[in-house]
Amino acid sequence: MTLIFGGDYNPEQWPEATWLEDVALMAEAGVTMVTVGVFSWSRLEPKPGEFDFGWLDRVLDLLHAKGIEVDLATASATPPPWLVRDHPSVLPVDANGTRLEFGSRQSYCPSSPVFRSAVQRLVRTIAERYKDHPALKMWHISNEYGDHIVSCWCDESAKHFRDWLQSRYRDIAGLNQAWGTSCWGQHYTGFEQVNPPRKAPGPVNPAQLLDWKRFSSDALLECFELEKQVLREVTPAIPVTTNFMSIMSELDYWKWAQAEDLVTDDAYPDPADPKSHLKIALSYDLMRSLKQQSWLLLESAPSAVSWREVNVPKRPGKMRLDSLQAVAHGSDGVMFFQWRQAKYGPEKFHSAMLPHAGTQTRQWRETVHLGQELRKLAEVKGHHTSAEVAILLDWSSWWALEAQESMPSNRLKLKDMLHTWYEPLFRRGIAVDLAPHGRSLESYQLVIAPSLYMCTIEQAKALQDFKGTLIVGPFSGVVDDNDQIHDGGAPGPLTELLGVTVEEFWPLPDGQRTKVGTANAHTWTEVLRLTTARPLASYEDGRPAITRNGNAIYVSCLLDDVTPVLREAGITAPEQELEICRRGPYTFVLNHTNASQPVPFRGTDMLTGREVTEVPPLDVIVIKEGQQ
Ligand code: GAL
Repeated sequence: MTLIFGGDYNPEQWPEATWLEDVALMAEAGVTMVTVGVFSWSRLEPKPGEFDFGWLDRVLDLLHAKGIEVDLATASATPPPWLVRDHPSVLPVDANGTRLEFGSRQSYCPSSPVFRSAVQRLVRTIAERYKDHPALKMWHISNEYGDHIVSCWCDESAKHFRDWLQSRYRDIAGLNQAWGTSCWGQHYTGFEQVNPPRKAPGPVNPAQLLDWKRFSSDALLECFELEKQVLREVTPAIPVTTNFMSIMSELDYWKWAQAEDLVTDDAYPDPADPKSHLKIALSYDLMRSLKQQSWLLLESAPSAVSWREVNVPKRPGKMRLDSLQAVAHGSDGVMFFQWRQAKYGPEKFHSAMLPHAGTQTRQWRETVHLGQELRKLAEVKGHHTSAEVAILLDWSSWWALEAQESMPSNRLKLKDMLHTWYEPLFRRGIAVDLAPHGRSLESYQLVIAPSLYMCTIEQAKALQDFKGTLIVGPFSGVVDDNDQIHDGGAPGPLTELLGVTVEEFWPLPDGQRTKVGTANAHTWTEVLRLTTARPLASYEDGRPAITRNGNAIYVSCLLDDVTPVLREAGITAPEQELEICRRGPYTFVLNHTNASQPVPFRGTDMLTGREVTEVPPLDVIVIKEGQQ
């Protein structure tokens, strides 16, 4: 049993002599697994149907000889030049109708039948070639679906979108009803008249935008499924994954996670952002929640990235701290982008486990040290964190809230709202799950729904059945799953549960604040009429702002500080400077501050074997239950 340690390995960018040095240094650093071949389609299949596996055979054999396992990519993330030149329709088209050129990566239309069948042939050939290779540990399908290309607006995609709509609505009357096409004269008489939401003179039908988001997530998922199907046939025992991109609105990760064997994530907290550890922790908790299982950090930056405006490196100790934070939140290992720092291309300034300057460097020493420490934590593998608090997250609602322009305020951003609630819980060391909307919540004591703009009658039922304390944020229960306003207005199917009716939405101009108890409301307020709820806090003019109805608390505004509401919900633990995160019997204590912090309990650190009383800046200790 070991925790996984390694990174993306791109041997095709290096001469073979370098490979020998690579595997020797990997062994020195304690690397256990590398991801190989992510962007290597044009090297594996240089001409249509002609494959060159010699180099990859040698790489896999070299790795295996050193006991290093391989997360083998299906190489489908960048179609080769011959494919896009022979079939320009493979290249994606943007919402303005411009076809995007070859010369970067991930330049494909997810709906292109030519692309899809070329991918299937490629994947089958790779799978047949390596199905019995002893180094093969996991399949890495494509790469970061949704990166660069989330949607394609070409004619092929339009056809695919129409098919998707037809299976959702059966007939055009169903679509007209769902999309409310009586508004602005959009009544369709046949599916062939429907297009993707390309650039139009004014705001596009919001229901069309919503379905486009759903379709785009599904179209990419179909690409994943096509590859998975081939891999299942050829190598049924090898797990499949695709690397997620931390919390993001584009793909419905609840649906995606069900399709893969292991959730893996690429996480790039910004070293320049003092709150980055807090923001990334939410993503890690999402990854852990997606399958309620351990997950794997498949990519992270050893130091600086190369894609921000200013790419700040990680201070000494920061790579270790960031990495062990992921393990604390359920990752069964730490992997990086990438093994060896590139010599050319857009990522030549991106940090790597082995930097340009070689092994006489801080970076290399920290790489080796981390490998050693992960070996000491091997027994943590597979342990799970169980949380009593859940935050609801629903992708359709997120899309409906943010995809359209014609809202009372375009300032409501779901990620900000999630963080508002997550941050005080994080600061109190309270474990948080993310949970999908509409499923049973019975294992939780407290459930927080920062925003349920979209809430169907069935979804409301799951909240009604919930026996613990429920907090619902503003602008909730507004629309059904076609983005149509519920009869009687907000909070629609939540009206009885919350005991309030929203008479008016009252967004605030940028920068304006109004007091609500000890906190400030900003961005959004509402005019409420209470039916069965009682007020807990009011706006400055005395109108109710926060209410309680039985176990359900309604917060009708965005607050700069939600701790009073959490206190009302029973969260009374004090804030702490250290991040204290439990994973099974292990307690990770992480110091993200610049000063030493006392540990609130005694214990022996698994990493140093020493009794600890304080944690130095940017340091981490891990204490096993029974050793406190
Ligand atoms: C990821 C991508 C990698 C690499 C990395 C750099 O988004 O999957 O291939 O580009 O970013 O940070």
